[in-house]
Amino acid sequence: MPRPLRQPLIAGNWKMNKTVSQAQAFVNHLREAVAGVNNVEIVVCPPFTALFSASQALKGSNIFLGAQNMYYYEKGAFTGEISPLMLQEAGCRYVILGHSERRAYFGEEDTLINLKVKAALRTGLTPIICIGEQLAEREAGKTKEVIQKQLAGSLAGLDSELYSKVVIAYEPVWAIGTGQNATAFEAQEVSNFIRGLLANNAGPSWAEKIRLLYGGSVKPANMAVFIKQPDIDGALVGGASLEAADFALIIKTVQEVISK
Ligand code: PGA
Repeated sequence: MPRPLRQPLIAGNWKMNKTVSQAQAFVNHLREAVAGVNNVEIVVCPPFTALFSASQALKGSNIFLGAQNMYYYEKGAFTGEISPLMLQEAGCRYVILGHSERRAYFGEEDTLINLKVKAALRTGLTPIICIGEQLAEREAGKTKEVIQKQLAGSLAGLDSELYSKVVIAYEPVWAIGTGQNATAFEAQEVSNFIRGLLANNAGPSWAEKIRLLYGGSVKPANMAVFIKQPDIDGALVGGASLEAADFALIIKTVQEVISK
């Protein structure tokens, strides 16, 4: 079967890791390691403090910058928050929204995530929207119900045209940071379900354009099986994105699979 036209995307979510100098060392290493890659979109998402210097260090490379969160106002009295405009000026093209750690530790819910998604799109940032079920929900047979609710909630009120600008990351919570990745079959099954929901909401031609990532214990050794799935267009990588060599290997694995 021919591969879909969607360009694969590999994004590294550093979470609360790396100082400014560590981020710069990483970026220098990664840019060299992936210099020849031109068929995979590459994104690194450092913590806020390292964004600007990382963006300077990434100039002229094939690597884009993303943030891990933001607030939805442009500016104002919101102590401790960061606006979409600030991210854009710091050099970001992407922003991760609704990560399960934001949902679990900081009480983020779909209504708030939806406001953030709209603000990101208004500013020209591409949101990487994370959705995924917990282990108990999977075991209770509620995966699809949870996915449907999170997807509908975070995309509420978007025009079809805007749909094609978002990236959805399916990250089963039980697979994040546990070393226990979903099987390619499980990830494909949910990704296909997500694409079907997107087709119902925005129409099949828009749904075909939306990139769906898998996230949860992705490593160099398991990347190939995920990218071979018809509805999986890349990965959101946590732990294995912290070492430039491992992250580069994940990217090169994708490059190799799609070049065949
Ligand atoms: P992990 O994290 O790759 O360490 O499982 C993925 C994520 O949280 O995005």
